[in-house]
Amino acid sequence: MSAYEIVHHEYDAIVVGAGGAGLRATLGLAEAGLKTANITKLFPTRSHTVAAQGGISAALGNMGRDDWRWHFYDTVKGSDWLGDQDAIQYMTREAIPAIIELEHYGVPFSRTPEGKIYQRPFGGMTTEFGKGPPAQRTCAAADRTGHAMLHTLYQQSLKCKAQFYIEYFALDLLTDDDGSIKGVLAWDMATGQLHRFRAHLVILATGGYGRAYFSATSAHTCTGDGGGMVLRAGLPLQDLEFVQFHPTGIYGSGCLITEGARGEGGYLTNKSGERFMERYAPSVKDLAPRDMVSRAMATEIREGRGVGEEADHIHLHLEHLGPEVLHQRLPGISESAKIFAGVDVTKEPIPVVPTVHYNMGGIPTLWTGEVVTKRDGNPDSVVPGLMAVGEAACVSVHGANRLGSNSLLDLVVFGRAAAIRAAELVKPDTPHKKISGASEERALARLDGFRNAKGGTPTAKIRLDMQKTMQKHCAVFRDGPTMQEGVVKLKEVINNYREDVRVSDRGMVWNSDLVETLELDNLLGQALLTIVGAENRKESRGAHARDDIKDRNDQEWMKHTLAWRTGDTEVNIDFRPVHLQPLDSEVEHIPPVARKY
Ligand code: FUM
Repeated sequence: MSAYEIVHHEYDAIVVGAGGAGLRATLGLAEAGLKTANITKLFPTRSHTVAAQGGISAALGNMGRDDWRWHFYDTVKGSDWLGDQDAIQYMTREAIPAIIELEHYGVPFSRTPEGKIYQRPFGGMTTEFGKGPPAQRTCAAADRTGHAMLHTLYQQSLKCKAQFYIEYFALDLLTDDDGSIKGVLAWDMATGQLHRFRAHLVILATGGYGRAYFSATSAHTCTGDGGGMVLRAGLPLQDLEFVQFHPTGIYGSGCLITEGARGEGGYLTNKSGERFMERYAPSVKDLAPRDMVSRAMATEIREGRGVGEEADHIHLHLEHLGPEVLHQRLPGISESAKIFAGVDVTKEPIPVVPTVHYNMGGIPTLWTGEVVTKRDGNPDSVVPGLMAVGEAACVSVHGANRLGSNSLLDLVVFGRAAAIRAAELVKPDTPHKKISGASEERALARLDGFRNAKGGTPTAKIRLDMQKTMQKHCAVFRDGPTMQEGVVKLKEVINNYREDVRVSDRGMVWNSDLVETLELDNLLGQALLTIVGAENRKESRGAHARDDIKDRNDQEWMKHTLAWRTGDTEVNIDFRPVHLQPLDSEVEHIPPVARKY
């Protein structure tokens, strides 16, 4: 039927995405003897994990007393009791062997004078179940930890003979006639050829969708491609209303200045030079969790105490740390501050502002990586053939607010867990079942539709309209009327996209116009679910801070949002219970209390 010739491949398992989670899963699958392919739109070491700076958490206790149970407690509290406690137990306990494994794989961690892995304090990480002093728990390779991890994991995956399909854009999931996931249709952007990858298991590791917003620390490639595919397959996404703003994006460019800067002793001031965090979080101050620091900064700015001509940002001071510490521990951000803010960090403060950084929500999964949906009243119904890991997934270990340095941890722990589960589910060389012709035809029709779009509005204009709408109507602080207005505006943006988008290049080779249009399709669906889910959640919790409903409401809202995109601008919302029970008796369930630091 189709004008496209398709190259056919068969694998035991395929991973889409080659950031930290995708590479760790790929490595685990290949080590387990499964015939594995990794399909990635970027060269692996250019994936967004490369931008992760400050480090990866694990209670190693190299720089003071620590215990993974304290890490478990901090993560449950940090999540504002929306995190699943079974998954949090798994992640914080497995953190310790996961870091040792990374060390053995060759990650060049910074070292203490005795040669142990160097660890720095990060926000919300404490000791003694929140009663002791801050923990030094974040393992770092200077301020280039993600970069170090990504290179090591890619080299290890190559060593295990995983097959990489690089600069291939995954278009859609392929299913069998029963709706089980059986593969992926992908486009080789360099040759223009389409490829059908048939597999018993597809693991989505496609990252977040930060680029739904105007100002984000996320790379321009963070367009939620896995989430888009899941929505088109008729499956839900979870908790998208929880969007993390990192307190210290460089004013103007949004480029990340690591929380490790405050971990090393940096602090924030307002226009009077006041260290205002002392008022908002008296015990942990600048090392409060990100949602709280971002809100404190936004409040200072709103109340006229911001710095600069327009009083619209905040100062981050590192001058007092001295050139030696800056050079040894924070060389990357010293360079970024020079390039993007024209600031010499040894002499002047960096202008910063809260900037979109991370999506706590994503594709709902169990701690094994298996994707779930709600079916016939079962909220944990496993979707056969599909897994998700990393920022694309919502396990949910971060709940309503992620603690800094728990993301790199999530990538490696759950990338590994998914590979372990995959090896239980798939036996090498099992014969493949037929892919439904209808699922492939739908994917091709979508591609063809956008490729030949002849409207009057360029993709870039529609993308900007979406980003500005999200930035204005679904920000650090939200309220009902602002979000309702935002929903109306975003629906107009989506309708304009459907009716009037223009793609000028009709080719298939390096057609960046078409790539960006397909990416925008993925972004628009997730932007819609974000703002609709936020408007629907009638409480404040973690990063979802409503001006009009200031309190957390555990009675009615301690539950995950599940949202399906049922039409271009239509969303169906349902809920899943939070897993309040840990995996086993090694830890006790942490009952909800008011979240204070
Ligand atoms: O601030 C940072 O270095 C970012 C870390 C994270 O998001 O976990």
